[in-house]
Amino acid sequence: MKKWPLIHTPLPGPKARKLINQDRTYVSPSYTRYYPLVVEKAKGLWVHDVDGNIFLDFTAGIAVCATGHCHPRVIKAIKKQADLLLHMSGTDFYYTPQIILAKKLANLMPGKGAKKVYFGNSGAEAVEAAFKLARWHTKRELNLAFYGAFHGRTMGALSLTASKTIQKKHYNPLVPGITHIPYSYCYRCPYNLSYPECELGCVQWVEDTLFRTTIPPEEVATIFVEPIQGEGGYIVPPPEFHREMNKIAKKYGILYVADEVQSGMGRTGKMFAMEHFGVDPDIIALAKGIASGMPLGALTARAEIMDWEAGSHASTFGGNPVSCMAALATIELLEEGLMKNAGVQGKHLMDGLVNLQQSHECMGDVRGKGLMVAVEFVKDRETKEPARTWRNDIIRHAFEKGLLLLGCGENSIRFCPSLTVNTAEIDKCLSIFDDVVREMAL
Ligand SMILES: Cc1ncc(COP(=O)(O)O)c(C=O)c1O
Repeated sequence: MKKWPLIHTPLPGPKARKLINQDRTYVSPSYTRYYPLVVEKAKGLWVHDVDGNIFLDFTAGIAVCATGHCHPRVIKAIKKQADLLLHMSGTDFYYTPQIILAKKLANLMPGKGAKKVYFGNSGAEAVEAAFKLARWHTKRELNLAFYGAFHGRTMGALSLTASKTIQKKHYNPLVPGITHIPYSYCYRCPYNLSYPECELGCVQWVEDTLFRTTIPPEEVATIFVEPIQGEGGYIVPPPEFHREMNKIAKKYGILYVADEVQSGMGRTGKMFAMEHFGVDPDIIALAKGIASGMPLGALTARAEIMDWEAGSHASTFGGNPVSCMAALATIELLEEGLMKNAGVQGKHLMDGLVNLQQSHECMGDVRGKGLMVAVEFVKDRETKEPARTWRNDIIRHAFEKGLLLLGCGENSIRFCPSLTVNTAEIDKCLSIFDDVVREMAL
């Protein structure tokens, strides 16, 4: 194992400091940076900053670099395609990479029957397209989404989002017709019930209360859901949650739309996280890990649902040929072994964190699937009072020790490394994390 991380300057170092000052002058202040990392290059899980400091990356660029930073096979595919064709616009012309990737994704989508694929450039675009397609197909105006959900920042995706008010502040009015309902967040049950004695009261409430009082179910187009909530705190619902919710959807002709932007592409040990729950969604939104860092969003749907007509939706850059070839190389690597590795290493990571939880009172909950793992910090295990500031301090202190982490929810830290992560890298992460939490003396 390399003698990394290597931190040899104060952070930020002199070059980083200069660049951050320029960033403050020229770059939008709407971005949220947890710590002053200015990246120069990266390989695998190791990120080098502009001052030569080397960090262990357990963020994968916000769960994007599925195959590790700059995987040689992805780079080769990108270079080969870049020599042939950079852009032609798949909305007005045909080209091979978009067609073969569509075929691949259609075949990967769970469930019987034919599937079709729409391409955009990002998660928000994939969600936006799903939202529009569902309206087109069902001709219904209402939608259900969940508290804690993050679906993106364009107006439609933002309207489905219910994560933090800062994301919505001053942007009203948003798209009407969306009702947010509580997610199955058993550590902090919104109904103050306990699983499994609750018998999934949160799901029953939709049919018994919502659909009988305020929302006519025959006017609902979609239930929009993250199989595992991402930005909301890496919240894993009980095993029957999606199955039961989908049953209600099917009963009323409602489309079950899975936002797999963060949970998809092998991260949880299966290609799509919804596969853990035994549900075949009607529509799936994909982005992030799909092309190992090249911009690409995709929407897969049962063919009979994707019945919109020419001109009803499109995007100039969507399905860029270079991104498509990066996606095909990514999927090949996932299928050859990285998806399996996510399951194996994810278990090692979870076991390690559960072990640390025994000695750190502030680690209230450890949860996840595969390499989508989070620790929720509390001030007191009994009261579960959220430890927001501690969480932020831990992330900052981990950075100073060379470990890159990100928050999620109000008081959780997520661990979402590349799917190439090995046991030694996980052990290194756990050891730094243990030191940091101890030193913060919670
Ligand atoms: C579940 C989910 N959906 C949608 C998005 C939006 O993706 P993008 O930032 O690529 O627009 C995100 C981004 O974090 C996400 O986690």
